[in-house]
Amino acid sequence: MRNRVTLRAERCLVAGGAGFIGSNLIRALLSKGMIVDCVDDLTTGRQSNIAEFRRNPAFRFIKLDVANAQGCSRLLRRHYSQVYHLACPTGVPNIEILGEEMLLSSSTGTYNLLKVARRTGAQFLFTSTAEAYGDPEVFPQAESYAGNVDPVGPRSAYEEAKRFGEAMTRYYGRKHGMDVRIVRIFNTYGPGMSPNDQRVIPQMIGNLINGEPVPIYGDGSQTRTFLHVNDLVAGLQTVMERGANGEVYNIGGSKQITIKALFDAVKKATGLGGTAAFQDHFISDHRGRWPDTSKVEKLGWRQKVSLDQGLREIHAEFLSSMDLKRRVEKGVVASLGKSRNQSTLARP
Ligand SMILES: NC(=O)c1ccc[n+]([C@@H]2O[C@H](COP(=O)([O-])OP(=O)(O)OC[C@H]3O[C@@H](n4cnc5c(N)ncnc54)[C@H](O)[C@@H]3O)[C@@H](O)[C@H]2O)c1
Repeated sequence: MRNRVTLRAERCLVAGGAGFIGSNLIRALLSKGMIVDCVDDLTTGRQSNIAEFRRNPAFRFIKLDVANAQGCSRLLRRHYSQVYHLACPTGVPNIEILGEEMLLSSSTGTYNLLKVARRTGAQFLFTSTAEAYGDPEVFPQAESYAGNVDPVGPRSAYEEAKRFGEAMTRYYGRKHGMDVRIVRIFNTYGPGMSPNDQRVIPQMIGNLINGEPVPIYGDGSQTRTFLHVNDLVAGLQTVMERGANGEVYNIGGSKQITIKALFDAVKKATGLGGTAAFQDHFISDHRGRWPDTSKVEKLGWRQKVSLDQGLREIHAEFLSSMDLKRRVEKGVVASLGKSRNQSTLARP
C-alpha cells in the first residue's frame, strides 16, 4: 500500500520494527497515514518482515543498534511525534546467548531513545513484558503487583532488563516532563513469526507440520494466555493515544490455558496429528501468567481475535510460506520477496 507523504503527516520511530510485533505495528501506522522510521539491528528481526514497506515513501529503514549512543545521535536530527521502543532480542533460548544484548538494549537503548523523544517532545512508549512479574504468586497480575523476580536467576537478563527499562522510562520521563507510557506485553502470536521461532505457538505448529514431536516442559500444567498480534497492535496504539502519562498497562489475552491444553487446541484448530515430548525445561519455567487487563480496557481496548481463529491463520501462513520455499528451491518461483502474509484475517 502506498501512502501520500505530506508535510503535516506525523513521523513515528519504531525501534525493533523489523521484528514480529514491530513490523505488524508499522503496517498499522502506515495505513493511518503516518511516516515511519524503523530502527533495527536485525539481531532477531528479519529483512523479510519489512520487505513489503520498502517501496513506500513514508517508510525508512535505519540499521542501528539502539544501545549505541553515537549511532542514535543521528536520530536527534529528525522530528518525531511518537517513539515506540520494541528493540530487544527475544526468545527464551536467547536469554543464555543474547542476555547481554537484552540488558543493553533495554537499559542504554532505552536511555538513548528517551533522549531522542525528549529532543522533539515526542510521546514515548516502552514495551516491557509479563516477565517483569517473574514467577508470579498472584493471579491475575495487575499492574500494581511488584512481581516475584530473582535478580540473578536464569531468566534475569531478560526480566531485569525490562524492569530497568521501565524504571528508566518512568524516572527520565518525570524528570524531563515528558509524555511516556509502559506496556507489559503478555504472550502474543500471529503472522510475521518464523516457523523456526522457538516460542510456543510457532514451535508447536512448525513441529506438527514437520512431523516432529512437540516439546512440552514439565507436565504441561503451567498456564499462559495468548493474544493475536492484531489485538496487541491496536492496544499499543490505544495506550500511545489515550493512555495516561507515566502509567503502566498490561496487554494480553484474557483466558488462561495450560500448555497441555494449548497442544490439544493447536491440533484441533489445524487438524494436525502428533505427539508431545515431555521434558525438563532447558532454563526454568514460570508456573503461570494471566494479565488483569481492566486498566487498558478502561481506555476502550478489547481482545477481538479468538485463539482458535488465530491458530488457523498462523497454520495457513506457515503452510503457504513452506510451500513457497519449496517452490523457490525447485526454481519454480524466482524469489521469496512477495511471499509473506497470505493472512486470512484483516490486517490491523
Ligand atoms: N512477542 C511476545 O509475545 C512478547 C511478549 C512480551 C514482550 N515482548 C516485547 O515486545 C518487543 C517486540 O517483540 P517481538 O516479539 O516482536 O520480538 P522480535 O525479536 O521479533 O523483535 C525484536 C526486534 O528488536 C530488534 N533489536 C534487538 N536488539 C536491538 C538493538 N540493540 N537495536 C536495534 N534493534 C534491536 C531485533 O532485531 C528485532 O527485530 C520486545 O521488546 C519484546 O521483549 C514481546
